[in-house]
Amino acid sequence: MSRILVTGGAGFIGSHVVDKLIAAGHEPVIFDVRPSPFHPDVETVIGDMCVLDDMLRGADGCDAIAHLAAAADVGEVQQDPIGSERLNARGTVNVLEAARQLEIGRVVYASTIWVYSDVEAAHVDEETALAPPAHLYTATKLAGELYCRSYRELYRVESTVLRFGIPYGPRARPAAVIPIFVRKALAGEPLTLAGGGLQTRRFVYVEDLADGVVAGLAPGAADRTYNLVGDEEVTIREIAERVRDEVGDVELVLTEGRAGDFRGAEVSGARARAELGWEARTSFAEGLSRYVAWHREHYATEPVAAAAPVTAPAPAPVVAAAPAVELARPARRLPVRRVLRDVALVVVGAVAAVLAALLGDGVLDGTGDVSHYARQHLFWTIVILGVVAVTSARAYGARRRAAAERA
Ligand SMILES: NC(=O)c1ccc[n+]([C@@H]2O[C@H](COP(=O)([O-])OP(=O)(O)OC[C@H]3O[C@@H](n4cnc5c(N)ncnc54)[C@H](O)[C@@H]3O)[C@@H](O)[C@H]2O)c1
Repeated sequence: MSRILVTGGAGFIGSHVVDKLIAAGHEPVIFDVRPSPFHPDVETVIGDMCVLDDMLRGADGCDAIAHLAAAADVGEVQQDPIGSERLNARGTVNVLEAARQLEIGRVVYASTIWVYSDVEAAHVDEETALAPPAHLYTATKLAGELYCRSYRELYRVESTVLRFGIPYGPRARPAAVIPIFVRKALAGEPLTLAGGGLQTRRFVYVEDLADGVVAGLAPGAADRTYNLVGDEEVTIREIAERVRDEVGDVELVLTEGRAGDFRGAEVSGARARAELGWEARTSFAEGLSRYVAWHREHYATEPVAAAAPVTAPAPAPVVAAAPAVELARPARRLPVRRVLRDVALVVVGAVAAVLAALLGDGVLDGTGDVSHYARQHLFWTIVILGVVAVTSARAYGARRRAAAERA
């Protein structure tokens, strides 16, 4: 069992990662600016990943970090470029820096297949050379990938980059296409399809994606990049028809608009299948049906959210409003390696001091007589080693007290 910090663990994908970690026998710790509505019982650190001290506190004692916290909504990024860049780029550096300072074994980084959006090729995989991205969201996510690489090269921090396809499923943000269709259909409103709804999307069911994050922790995935994508292509019209089948008879209205079939490149998931044994197993029909069931149940008990307008932005990760660090977790463990190092230093100092004292008395050399020079020499050896031992012990005590105060 490993203790895994999940940044953004209160969010859409992160909350499913928490579920899958528990199912796999790991011990997840949520790190987020807000408490998770989905996991009130899971150990949670409330903090801002852009503040290095918060990250260090959150990651202390963890074996790996699944880094999902971000400004994940492209519309939100466009509205707040500075704040989004801070979250996605600086936040990721802080995660890597915490991993470096605390000697954490692995960072699994949630990237996106949007990194391929400016590539000309019709078919792309992890070896495809990327083109500089046009969208700021993609630029900041790519910055995170590059930081993973830099930390690997400079400091040997192990990382795994996962490029997510378009996720859908329970807990999805209300502003995405599937939640909008389902909400409208349940309200008896017509579903409007611009340009005939011929645009295609390649979705990946969120629980499958979360399985992929757990698979990304495997030793063999160190310093590798994987696309986590589904292989089913659905048109917007098919989504609307399936929603109609699930929810009841609603009208589909075809309007003028951006026609055509924006496909984007076809993204290969072959490497994840071959190396991680991961593939998106949930069919779109099954995943949609599960989403509709969740939506009905969730919004039946969440009237305020259900009444939110369709275009309501996602729960925004407003960093400025983030509360001061509060720790809702049990007393933190001191990293074992650091404690062992301190203890070893004290023991070595003490043993050396005793040996020196015995030698000084002429006990160990058997002569019973020691020159004046040797006595001087031994006296100072004892003093220096004593100072080292006392200093180490005091530093260790101070760290223990600081850790206890933080907890
Ligand atoms: N949803 C998608 O369409 C999609 C697609 C590809 C990749 N991704 C990536 O997957 C990851 C998760 O996306 P999601 O859809 O679950 O997003 P989400 O918005 O649902 O969750 C993000 C979480 O991060 C938290 N957070 C924000 N700022 C923080 C900070 N300063 N410190 C700590 N926590 C903070 C938020 O409170 C939220 O709980 C992101 O890295 C995103 O870029 C998402």
